Amino acid sequence: MATAMRPAETQAHEGRREIVCQDLAVGLQGIIVIDDTTLGPGLGGVRLKSYASMAHAVAECRRLAAAMTLKNAVAELPFGGAKSVVLADPPASDRAALMRRFGEFVAAAGGDYLPGVDMGTAVTDLALMSESGATVSCATEDPSRWTATGVAAAIRAAIDHRGLQMDGCRVLIQGAGHVGEVLARILAADGAVVLIADVDSDRADALARELDGEVIDARTVIGTRCDVFAPCAVARVIDPDTVARLHCSIVAGAANDTLSHRADADLLAKRDITYVPDFVANAGGVVDIHGLRMGWDEDRMRAEVLKIGDRTAQLLEAADQGGQTPLVHAERMAADRLAAARATPQVA
Ligand code: NAI
Repeated sequence: MATAMRPAETQAHEGRREIVCQDLAVGLQGIIVIDDTTLGPGLGGVRLKSYASMAHAVAECRRLAAAMTLKNAVAELPFGGAKSVVLADPPASDRAALMRRFGEFVAAAGGDYLPGVDMGTAVTDLALMSESGATVSCATEDPSRWTATGVAAAIRAAIDHRGLQMDGCRVLIQGAGHVGEVLARILAADGAVVLIADVDSDRADALARELDGEVIDARTVIGTRCDVFAPCAVARVIDPDTVARLHCSIVAGAANDTLSHRADADLLAKRDITYVPDFVANAGGVVDIHGLRMGWDEDRMRAEVLKIGDRTAQLLEAADQGGQTPLVHAERMAADRLAAARATPQVA
C-alpha cells in the first residue's frame, strides 16, 4: 500500500463523481463514474476493454453510467447509476493483482459504487475486488440468464404490440454470448425462428444447429430480413446509416448503448420500427442483483424479471398514445422517479 496512488476525483456534474484509478505498478488505468446516487449506491459493471485513448474510455464510461441511472430507476430498484472501465491495453501481467488493486479504488468510493460484471470481466474478478474490502455484486453468480429472460419478455411484449405472433417470428440475435445464447434458447422454445450472428462463426453455427435456426454472416446482420433485431453484442449498432438499412419491425436487445445518438430513436419511429430502449429491455441482470441481496427464490426472481414485459407493454402503449418515442417516454419515467425520490426527505 505504500506505493499506492490515491484516487484523483473530479466533479463532472452536480451529483456525479469520477474517480481516476491508476497504479502503473500493476498496470491499472481506469475510471469509475458514479452518475447518480439518489436511489441508492451506483450499480454498474466493470468493463475491461481496449480503447484508443483514456479520453475515449472516459466518454464511454460516462454514457454507460448515465444509462445505468435510467435502467435502475425505470426498473424501480434501490440503486443509482455508475460504471467503470479499465483499460485492457497493455494487458496486465498479473490479473489478480490488477483486480485486487482496482477493488481498493472501489472500496475508497465509500459504498457509492457497487460494481458488477460487464464486457471483459467475470465473477472471479469481482470476487478478487471484494478481497480488497470492496462491496461488490456478481461475485458468485453471473446475471446473464436473467438479462436474457428480461430481454425475451420485452421482445414478447413488443411482438404483441405490433400484432405479430411469436410462433414463426424471425428473431435475429447479434451475438451468441452469455445473454444471446440463453435468449435464443428461450425464444426458440417459444416457437420463434432464431437467426444467429456472431463474429465467432463456430459459436453461431453450433447454436443455430442446436435450435434449428439459421446462421447469419456477422457482416450482413443489418440488411437481413427479420421481424425482430436483437442486438446482444456491441454498442451503437443503430445509427442513421444502419436505420436506413434495417429490415425489421422491432429492435429490442441486451446490448447497452444501442443507439449512436438519441435522435436515432426518432429515425426508427419514422421507419415504423418499434424500439424498446436498451435500458428497459436489459434490466433483468440488475433485478437479479437486487433479488440476490434480498434473498428471493427462483420463482420470485422470475416473476420480478418478467415485469420487464409488463413495463415494456405499458411503455409502448403510452408512447403511442402520447405521440412520443418509447425512448423519450422511458427517460421521463426515470426522471419522474428520481424527482419523486429527491422530493422525499430521506430518513437518516
Ligand atoms: P458476451 O461477451 O458474453 O457475448 C458477446 C458475443 O457477441 C460474443 O459471442 C462475441 O463473439 C459476439 N460479438 C462481438 N462482436 C460482434 C459483432 N460485431 N457481431 C456479432 N457478434 C459479435 O457478452 P454478454 O454478456 O452476452 O452481453 C452482451 C451485451 O449485452 C453487451 O453489450 C453487454 O454490455 C450487454 N448486457 C449484458 C448483461 C449481462 O447480464 N451479461 C446485462 C446488461 C447488458
